[in-house]
This record gives sequence, C-alpha cells and structure tokens, in this order.
Amino acid sequence: MTRTKVALGVSSSIGLYKACEIVRGFQKAGVEVQVVMTPNAARLISPLLFSSLAGTKTIVEMFEEPAGRSIRHVALAREIALLCVAPATANVIGKFAGGVADDFLSTLFLATTAPVLIAPAMNEAMYLDRTTQANMDRLKALGAEFVEAEKGYLACGDAGWGRLAEPEAIVREGLRILARTSSLAGRTVLVTAGPTREHLDPVRFLSNPSSGKMGYELAREAVARGARTILVSGPTGLVPPAGAMTESVVSAAEMEKACLKAFPKAGIVVMAAAVSDFRFKEPRGRKSAKEEIGLSLAVERTPDILARLGRAKKPGQVLVGFAAETHDVAAHARRKMAAKKADLMVANAVGAGRGFGTETNEVLIIAPSGPVQAAGPLSKREIARLIFDRIEALLEKKRR
Ligand SMILES: Cc1cc2nc3c(=O)[nH]c(=O)nc-3n(C[C@H](O)[C@H](O)[C@H](O)COP(=O)(O)O)c2cc1C
Repeated sequence: MTRTKVALGVSSSIGLYKACEIVRGFQKAGVEVQVVMTPNAARLISPLLFSSLAGTKTIVEMFEEPAGRSIRHVALAREIALLCVAPATANVIGKFAGGVADDFLSTLFLATTAPVLIAPAMNEAMYLDRTTQANMDRLKALGAEFVEAEKGYLACGDAGWGRLAEPEAIVREGLRILARTSSLAGRTVLVTAGPTREHLDPVRFLSNPSSGKMGYELAREAVARGARTILVSGPTGLVPPAGAMTESVVSAAEMEKACLKAFPKAGIVVMAAAVSDFRFKEPRGRKSAKEEIGLSLAVERTPDILARLGRAKKPGQVLVGFAAETHDVAAHARRKMAAKKADLMVANAVGAGRGFGTETNEVLIIAPSGPVQAAGPLSKREIARLIFDRIEALLEKKRR
C-alpha cells in the first residue's frame, strides 16, 4: 500500500522555523511529507534542513531538470492527499487568491485537486489589511481551509494578530482533513441544485432566483469526501463540479424523474434545488402573441419531490431538505421536516440580498430532536462542509 503523502508548502515568514515540527507531526502519524519552499523562504533558511527532516529533497526551483519523464509539479499535484501551506505569507495567499503561478508552490496550488490547508503568518498590519482578509475570504469560498493565525508575540517585535498557529494545531487539522477525504467512500450521494423552469411556451416560464451555488458546493463537498456523487441540476450558469455525475434538467417533472431514478442507489439525498411550486396548466408548444394569452393563466401544483422521496425512504437513507423562507424560518422548516419525513432541514432566510445568488449563506440546521444549529454568514462551501459533518454524525447514529 502506498503511504499518504502531504506536500508542505513553506514560504518566507520568520515563523518557518515551526515548519520543522509540522514535518515531524505528520511523520509521527505515518504520513509522508514532501516539502516545497518558495525561493524567498530558501533565502531565510537552507532547504537542506527540510530535506534532512523529511527524507526527500526539498523542492524550491520550478525550472530544474526533471529526474524522469514526468513534469514535477503535475506529478506531485496528483500524488498528494493534502497541500498544507505553513507558514503562508501575505504574498502566497495573494498569489493563490489571484491565480498567479510564478513559482513551484503557487503552480502546485493551481495544479492539485487535493484539499488545501493554509496557516497564515505575518505582521498584524499585514494580517488585518483588507486585501489580505479579502484574499483569505476568496480562498475560503473556493474551498481552502485555514488554521487562523493567533494573537501573540511577533517577530517584528510587536504583539498582535498574525502569529503562526502552533504546529500541533496545524497537524491536527491536516489529519482531520485527510480522514475526511474518504469519509463517504463507497457511498452514493444525490444532490439537487438550482431552480426549475416551468414553461408557458418556448420563451416564457415561471421560475425563481436560485443560482444553484449552494447545491454545487454540496456536490463538490460530497466528491471531496470520496462519495460517488450525482448532481441533478436545474438551469444555472455554473461549471459542473469535477468528479460529480451531473444531469441537467429544466422542469420540476424532469427533476422528479431524475431523482426517482437515482434515489434507490443513494444513501444520502440532499435536496437543495429551489423547485418551482407551480406550473402552467396548459403549456403551449409555440409562442403565442400576448393579446392571445390574456391576463389570467391557470396554474397547477408541481410534484413535491421531497415529500415523495420522504415516503419512499428506506431506514438507512438520510434525506436532507432545504427551506427558503422570508419569515418564521425555523417554524416553517420544522413543519416541512415533519410533513416530508426529512432527517435534517437546512433553513435560510431569503430576500433582499440574502440567500439566493449570494456568495455566502446564513442557515439554521434543524433535526427532529436536539438544538437548532445556527451557521454563518459563511461561504457556501463552508456551509456545505457543516451540512456534511451533520450528515456523517447522523449516519454514525443510525449505525449504532
Ligand atoms: C526576516 C523577514 C521576515 C518576514 N516575515 C514575513 C511574515 O511573517 N509574513 C509575511 O507575509 N511576510 C514576511 N516577510 C516578507 C516576505 O518575505 C516577502 O513578502 C516575500 O516577497 C514573500 O515571498 P514568498 O511568499 O514567495 O515566500 C518577511 C521578510 C523578511 C526579510
């Protein structure tokens, strides 16, 4: 069996002396470490130190003759189960956030699909600077995780925010992420996302402002945890998540059909789509003139997919519903959960710049018993992570 490999990115912060302990921490847990230093970090300390500790030659240069046929950053990007960057300078964080790939570490960041853990370290003014904070927010929204810097004595002589977290905390978080990469291995997850469109004719339809972002992040998170992931998506302008099997649908009826097909295979079902509640009773195949249509159009209810799956649910399956409400959010969500036999309900307030189409979300996670978990505002990827943590806790409970 090949050992799990982590790439440890080391950039030019004084805090890099702590990276030696991080190498040791991962090694003690049986994880192989390949250190990648920025050229500036190699000016602060010799790469030989890390080569000796890790037992593999530290990578610094991008343009070095490769030992074999493979391109080093691409090969390493595929081999690693985690990219941990500690310490991460303001510069490295900015480069990651901006997609700059001008040295080995920043190129590796773009080339890898492995999870990324970043531990910033810098002077307080640089850490609290709005550009650095915005760069960190962007990286969080894109899926990177952080071990936040601490408050304490800094190398510049000041005391304040920006000190690298302790090596044990960084290693602990890294190991937690590594365990998570296979926590749903062998399971099938069905996620729905986006709005549905109920056409009156080829150019007019009933719909809602759902962007599909929450559902797509849920599908990404399911893939990241090793699940076979089926995403049934209404019309969105989003790029399908890599690794998920995405089926595009338009109407509620099409979404229902796709869900019923996938449902028997799925152990976990997360219904994040905003399915239109109504459709036109008499849709037309051709566009009619507005004078012909008149001012009153008959509508009927679309299928209630969540309720239907709730009735068909087997004991081992976990069903998660979403409730977007403008008022009395928790009460409405509880009622829906009971009526539709869902195991968890994720409720959020929508309207006036909240929920639909935004980059962040603020939700209540509600189970039939126990306290309501309030989360956010957080990036939709972070919310997706919390939802899957709850789902995994529920699976664990069902197993016992
Ligand atoms: C002694 C010394 C300590 C530094 N410490 C930090 C630091 O803790 N955090 C940081 O963001 N930059 C720090 N810098 C500045 C970075 O080294 C500088 O921005 C550099 O261009 C970053 O390059 P890199 O990100 O490729 O390693 C330090 C510079 C020096 C000379």
